[in-house]
Amino acid sequence: MNPDALPTDREPTLRVVPLPRDTNTAGDIFGGWIMSQVDLAGSVVASRRAQGRVVTVAVNAFDFKKPVYVGDWVSFYAEVVKVGNTSLTVDVKVYAERGWRSGSVFTECVRVTEAVLTYVAIDPKRLPRSVPS
Ligand SMILES: CC(C)(COP(=O)(O)OP(=O)(O)OC[C@H]1O[C@@H](n2cnc3c(N)ncnc32)[C@H](O)[C@@H]1OP(=O)(O)O)[C@@H](O)C(=O)NCCC(=O)NCCS
Repeated sequence: MNPDALPTDREPTLRVVPLPRDTNTAGDIFGGWIMSQVDLAGSVVASRRAQGRVVTVAVNAFDFKKPVYVGDWVSFYAEVVKVGNTSLTVDVKVYAERGWRSGSVFTECVRVTEAVLTYVAIDPKRLPRSVPS
C-alpha cells in the first residue's frame, strides 16, 4: 500500500487550505497551525465516540514528515484507535494534495504528518466521565 495515497475507504474528518497568514518565517506552513488542525480533527472523532464533550489531555506522538505549502489541500483523517474508561486515543494522518493536472486530479499527494493524541470525556463539572460502551 502506498503510504502517500489518500485513504479510499472514508472521507477526511477535516479538509483545509492554508493561507499565507499560516506560514512560518521561511514561508512554509507553521507547525503550530498543523498541530491545531490535528487537535480539532482528533476532537471531532473523540467527541462523537464519547457522545459529548472531550478535552485533550496528551499529545503522545507528532511527526512532521514533509512540509506543507500555501494553497495545498490538506486532509486530516482521524480515527479512534483505543477506548479506555474515560480516555480515547486517536490516530491522525495528514495528507497534502497539490499541483493541478486536470479536473480534480492532483499531480502530487504526500502524507505530511502523523500524530497520536489522547482525549478525556468530561462531564458538565469538567470531571472525567466514562466513555459509553
Ligand atoms: C483531562 C482531565 C480532566 C483529566 O483529569 P484527571 O483527574 O487527571 O483524570 P485521571 O487521572 O483520572 O485520568 C483520566 C484518563 O486520562 C488518562 N490520562 C491522564 N493523563 C494522561 C496522559 N498524560 N497521557 C495519556 N493518558 C492520560 C488516564 O489514564 C485516564 O484514562 P482512563 O480513564 O481511560 O483509564 C484534566 O487533566 C484536565 O482538565 N486537563 C486540562 C485539559 C485541557 O485544558 N486541555 C486543553 C484544551 S482542550
